[in-house]
Amino acid sequence: MMGDADLMIPPDVPAIRLENVTVGYGKQVVLEDVSLTIPQGAFWAILGPNAAGKTTLLRTMLGLLVPQKGKVEIFGRPPKQLGSWRRWIGYVPQHHQAALVRFPLRAYDVVMMGRYPHIGLVRRPGPEDHEHVRRALKRVDMAHAAQKPWFSLSGGERQRILMARALAAQPRLLLLDEPTAGVDVAATQSLYELLRELHQEGMTVVVVSHDVGVIAQYVNGVACLNRRLVAHGRPEEVLTQETLETMYGCEAVFLHHGGVPHMVVRRHHKP
Ligand SMILES: Nc1ncnc2c1ncn2[C@@H]1O[C@H](COP(=O)(O)OP(=O)(O)OP(=O)(O)O)[C@@H](O)[C@H]1O
Ligand SMILES: [Mg+2]
Repeated sequence: MMGDADLMIPPDVPAIRLENVTVGYGKQVVLEDVSLTIPQGAFWAILGPNAAGKTTLLRTMLGLLVPQKGKVEIFGRPPKQLGSWRRWIGYVPQHHQAALVRFPLRAYDVVMMGRYPHIGLVRRPGPEDHEHVRRALKRVDMAHAAQKPWFSLSGGERQRILMARALAAQPRLLLLDEPTAGVDVAATQSLYELLRELHQEGMTVVVVSHDVGVIAQYVNGVACLNRRLVAHGRPEEVLTQETLETMYGCEAVFLHHGGVPHMVVRRHHKP
């Protein structure tokens, strides 16, 4: 399966390009007129309040939602024409309970699911697949839990196993939807460190996050959403008080310690 010409994603095409995208559910518009280009090799954060349309944007980028207007391209191709390139896209979805829970799966089996696009329907997992699963488990620090049943894992452990599942597929583009929700401070830090390593190895990483102050230290691009694209670009340019206030609709105090942006948000308490 490997080694075919379709492996060669041209290095100069953007990982993701959205042009005047309007998207929603039925007639409801959730995101309006979003234009955004994320180059290959970038590390981007998508920020915005609840219901801003962050998950909707990720799902549009993945081609899971078809825009009402505008154009989406992944690696220079419309999502429907991705074909076997689809297996180079990793996705860590927002909630981690869902359907998997009832199956008698071990953590190891869940990570192996990440190999399915490479294994295909006819082959059984081979030594290479097992090696990728072991490596992915090690990378998220969950090698010790490989044989544990999925249902017995804590929320934070499940989140890491889902991360390993995405990594086992060796994605070129990794999209993560709030991977640190319900994860403790130390594990959050190590997840961001891992994302930074992956980025340094050449992976394109796009992460939806609420950790505004923390994520700004890691990424080289941010997109601020609130039903529209409020601002996008380099974090030090974009994460101004004005942008944050427009995005969150509240008073934001933005501090710079030695070039590292750090944010404190104060809710307006209206009488
Ligand atoms: N499947 C759906 N059908 C109908 N409306 C939806 C659907 N999914 C999301 N919405 C609506 O679209 C809007 C944006 O939702 P979305 O999940 O993209 O927000 P979000 O920025 O990811 O929020 P959160 O921070 O809470 O995860 C919300 O008003 C939501 O109710
Ligand atoms: Mg969401």
